[in-house]
Amino acid sequence: MKISVFGIGYVGAVAAACLVETGHEVIACDTSEVKVKCIQEGRSPIVEKDLPELIAKAVKAGKLTATTDYVRAIQETDMSLICVGTPSRKDGSLNLDYVVALCEQIGSVIKNKPGFHIVVNRSTVVPGTIMNVIRPAIEKTSGKKAGVDFGLGNNPEFLRESTAVEDYFKPTQIVVGATDQKAADAIMSIYDGIEATRVICDVTVPKALSTSVTPGAPTRLRSVTRWVTSSKNTALIATRS
Ligand SMILES: NC(=O)c1ccc[n+]([C@@H]2O[C@H](COP(=O)([O-])OP(=O)(O)OC[C@H]3O[C@@H](n4cnc5c(N)ncnc54)[C@H](O)[C@@H]3O)[C@@H](O)[C@H]2O)c1
Repeated sequence: MKISVFGIGYVGAVAAACLVETGHEVIACDTSEVKVKCIQEGRSPIVEKDLPELIAKAVKAGKLTATTDYVRAIQETDMSLICVGTPSRKDGSLNLDYVVALCEQIGSVIKNKPGFHIVVNRSTVVPGTIMNVIRPAIEKTSGKKAGVDFGLGNNPEFLRESTAVEDYFKPTQIVVGATDQKAADAIMSIYDGIEATRVICDVTVPKALSTSVTPGAPTRLRSVTRWVTSSKNTALIATRS
């Protein structure tokens, strides 16, 4: 699949390189020309075990490119991953300014883009953000409807710094929430070839699960999975190993 990754920080750089390693073609997009140049030259913008080798290999193969041009990044791909920063405010809430600005950019481009573009959030957000902040930002600027004209999903990462690449390829679980089955299946398919239990659920659920799916937390995962399946307000669509 052709995938655009927005934000070449820690989360985006690891995702971009690992996606190429599993057979995808990636356009990494950042507002920072320094980070874009780094990728273009086949160098890693962050210090992380195994990442420099993966990025060098991906760029050399022509499967990983980088740009500041978000219009091109969205137009030339089928799926966009949101990996921009969500820094904490003084009151402890998350500053979603980068996420909202990016969603408005995505909406403005998919407005005139044919086909079913899929938008996947990987940034840290609290439950409710996908449907109450991300969805309206994209719908307003695109004039399109989530789950009908474009897909919207949540696929939180559970990578640990210093073992992020290894964690990507050997996850405890892969958790995907989406507005519709088509988007959920497409998002899950980017992990084809990686062995893990796969959980597809309502778009509002993954954040709650991700806090429990960090490696080494199987007990908490079991209890949250029980909570999800027993909740009247959420729907666990499928779990498969
Ligand atoms: N770093 C971690 O260990 C870690 C772990 C878990 C979760 N997260 C979460 O993942 C998200 C990303 O974290 P990070 O550490 O990779 O962030 P980061 O700040 O290192 O990188 C974010 C990047 O997004 C870019 N950006 C901002 N707006 C953009 C736009 N409109 N288009 C393209 N690029 C844009 C910035 O220039 C920056 O390079 C955050 O929500 C964070 O909380 C991070």
